[in-house]
Amino acid sequence: MTKIIQISDPHIVAQDELAYGHVDTAKALKKCVEKIGRILPEIGPIDMIIFTGDLTDFGKEEEYLIFRKIVEELDIPYQAIPGNHDNKLVMQKVFSDQDWMPKKGPINWEIDFNDLKIIALDTSITGMAHGYLENISLDFLKSSLSSAKEKPVLVATHHPPILTGIEKMDIQNLRESAEFNKILSGYNGKLKLICGHIHRNIVGQFGDIVCQIAPGVSHAVTMDLRKGAPNCLTKEPGSFLLHEIQGGILSHQILVDHYDGPFLFYPEST
Ligand SMILES: [Fe+2]
Ligand SMILES: [Fe+2]
Repeated sequence: MTKIIQISDPHIVAQDELAYGHVDTAKALKKCVEKIGRILPEIGPIDMIIFTGDLTDFGKEEEYLIFRKIVEELDIPYQAIPGNHDNKLVMQKVFSDQDWMPKKGPINWEIDFNDLKIIALDTSITGMAHGYLENISLDFLKSSLSSAKEKPVLVATHHPPILTGIEKMDIQNLRESAEFNKILSGYNGKLKLICGHIHRNIVGQFGDIVCQIAPGVSHAVTMDLRKGAPNCLTKEPGSFLLHEIQGGILSHQILVDHYDGPFLFYPEST
């Protein structure tokens, strides 16, 4: 049974800097890597990790190198798509040794497991915060789905096409997504859309498609549903998702921090 970890929005910044003056994002990603290493006997084996964008905060080479150094402490294959904070060209250069990284154009890729296919799509537009899927990416999705042979599919994007009620994020969602929805809805197998960008674990409907937005690994976008709410982050506990095949696609949230336990509920009965 294939098991995939999804980590989103690490926002790595330059050495010894804090993202937005508040968040030690490298420390958070290191803690996440340590957590995965520690709980691997309980949750593994893990087939791969997918990073759903905003790997870095400014898309600088130095930031990607820090990212790679941290993540490659884990002996688990990983692949990534860009977010609005990434720089596609720099990302392509830094990951040019990786087979999954296209040499040019949008960073779309697909990978097949026995019981699951992952199709990852680049929604980033250079210099813009919102998301958009170019025709080349929609064509890539169509052809990938046609070769999926009705097995369960995870489609991954950075920008979610759904609205969350967090106004400052909703104006940056995936725009013009009707054709995207039509293609996804036409698939005959089980399919789940997984995204990032909002830094909160949110599950919604994109038409008939279940869409899950991953939590941030280091900080959250503040939960403020008021109209005109300011654009804020909150240092809530970071977490990540584990997607596995259990009949269909089942998704768990795992917190990065360590908490006391496990404690047997009924030690006397063991
Ligand atoms: Fe982000
Ligand atoms: Fe983003």
